[in-house]
Amino acid sequence: MSLSSLSQDDNTALFRKAWTLYDTISEKNYMFHREIYGHVTGLLQQRHAQGQYHLLDLGCGNARFLAPCLRAAPPASYDGVDLSASALDEARTHLNGLANTALHHKDMLQTVEDTDSAFDLIFSGFAVHHLDAAGKQRLFSACAERLVPGGQFILVDVVREEGQTREQYLDGYLNFMRTQWTEVVPEQLEEACAHVAAYDFPETLADLKQMAKQAALSEPEIIGQYQQHCILRFTV
Ligand SMILES: C[S@@+](CC[C@H](N)C(=O)[O-])C[C@H]1O[C@@H](n2cnc3c(N)ncnc32)[C@H](O)[C@@H]1O
Repeated sequence: MSLSSLSQDDNTALFRKAWTLYDTISEKNYMFHREIYGHVTGLLQQRHAQGQYHLLDLGCGNARFLAPCLRAAPPASYDGVDLSASALDEARTHLNGLANTALHHKDMLQTVEDTDSAFDLIFSGFAVHHLDAAGKQRLFSACAERLVPGGQFILVDVVREEGQTREQYLDGYLNFMRTQWTEVVPEQLEEACAHVAAYDFPETLADLKQMAKQAALSEPEIIGQYQQHCILRFTV
């Protein structure tokens, strides 16, 4: 895929056209999927021990890493939402055998704003940074409204350091990719770098804390952090 084929208004182009590239990146653990989804398993098991729970997954992709967590702590229902039809096709395979799963080919913000359903857990892995600040605030507010009392929003995402501009963050992250993601072939690495440069809008922890406050969610609890990659838990 050439750089120019990444449309400026379509932040999911990479995932629709080259889902296997993201699979390679996660398989090589360049974004700490193994450690992060280990924590997610623990969080789901904690919730499962308290009784049955309903889970919404925003930007589920192919659910490759969440599916084993779900098997370790089966929810009463699982709803995955993504704009990438090819990722959802693969998710069907990864979720095979789990009861009460549904996959929705929809925008995650629209979904959480439009749904009448209530959830005990809302999860999102490496997807929210695609939204601009206003979109993230809307998402936080809609999640707070869709969670039952005591419900949790588990956010896995990249974050900027305090005081770091987006440009400084990108310099650091693109350098991290170019020096550490050594097993991605050069053409695909540059494709991934172009995607990050065009579509990644991570916030600082302080920004996320402020968004949570405005949405009447708790302060973020940092469950784990691996360089720029964080697991945060918010409760209502
Ligand atoms: C980096 S992948 C993450 C997949 C998986 N959740 C994980 O943790 O590995 C981001 C996913 O978010 C999806 N996505 C991005 N913006 C979206 C939106 N507005 N609505 C729904 N899905 C979106 C992309 O299609 C992609 O599948």
